[in-house]
Amino acid sequence: MAAQPLLSVRNLRTVFGTMQGEVTAVDDVSFDVAPGEVLGIVGESGSGKSVTALSIMGLLPQPPGRVAGGEILFEGRDLLKLPRSELRRMRGSAIGMIFQEPMTSLNPVFSIGDQITETIRVHERIGAAAARTRGAAAARTRGIEMLEKVGIPSPQRRIDDFPHQLSGGMRQRVMIAMALSCSPRLLLADEPTTALDVTIQAQILDLLRDLQREMGMAIVVITHNMGVIAEFADRVAIMYAGRIAEEGPVGRIFDAPTHPYTAGLLSSTPDLVGEVPRLRTIPGTLPSLYELPPGCRFAPRCDRRVEACESGRPATQEIAPGHFAACIRAREGASA
Ligand SMILES: Nc1ncnc2c1ncn2[C@@H]1O[C@H](COP(=O)(O)OP(=O)(O)O)[C@@H](O)[C@H]1O
Ligand SMILES: [Mg+2]
Repeated sequence: MAAQPLLSVRNLRTVFGTMQGEVTAVDDVSFDVAPGEVLGIVGESGSGKSVTALSIMGLLPQPPGRVAGGEILFEGRDLLKLPRSELRRMRGSAIGMIFQEPMTSLNPVFSIGDQITETIRVHERIGAAAARTRGAAAARTRGIEMLEKVGIPSPQRRIDDFPHQLSGGMRQRVMIAMALSCSPRLLLADEPTTALDVTIQAQILDLLRDLQREMGMAIVVITHNMGVIAEFADRVAIMYAGRIAEEGPVGRIFDAPTHPYTAGLLSSTPDLVGEVPRLRTIPGTLPSLYELPPGCRFAPRCDRRVEACESGRPATQEIAPGHFAACIRAREGASA
């Protein structure tokens, strides 16, 4: 890769202490994101996607969660070693986020304007004591501009609305406006469209892509939907049971999926262009983190399993430049 990575996650390991002992939800995960690049992280529910995002943002519920190993380098600095105050400053300025979860969604008792201007003022500090009034007015103007940018009609009026006065799609646009108001260099979007209906999903993805191009920011988009990846990402990492099963350029992964799990995910994705959805689910379920198989974690569900798959973690092999798969049969798969 030519460009120096903006974000480099190295051997991340995140654990949770539970009544039944410690479980490893993210187990030795590494990936890079170049400036301006869109990386998709895809996998079934429970595969460790949100825990990865929360680990990057320093927002793990702690306890029970804890980053037990690895590095998270943002522009070369390890976020895991930053003082909390500095990490907090970085969130929302250098790194923006949009989550599906109510945790970071809008506060029902404040107007949209209060919330967006608060974000702008905190991070740009235009509300510094000396210029309080001017700061507030400037932040409001910026807020209106941002609402306009994300396609909210009559933003001058809408800025005084409360969240319940907006539709789900409009609320997600407001969240995007807030996340982007400080021009982050990286946006983490965890299931940004999952709660929305299909038409609105498409509109929000179009909007994000336009803004991404215009602002030149990098995005890590997390989804369980391969369709979102196809529409949106440059590269994709496929997660399974806390590990990356396969990673590569989107076009290549769709044309020549190498890991049987990726192939399974693709065949269970409704056909985006065709009329007839070809829904086929992969038999079986994710293993419990308490009873992980000793070898490849996908082996119990894999139709290409051989005996060797059950002993030892499969090494990650580079199948083609930038295309990696953690499957002992990866090379047969690529040539098959
Ligand atoms: N607060 C928690 N306490 C204990 N275990 C958790 C907690 N949050 C997540 N986990 C574990 O991490 C796994 C991965 O969760 P998550 O990253 O949210 O999955 P997803 O890929 O659906 O976003 C869960 O299946 C669960 O076992
Ligand atoms: Mg999740």
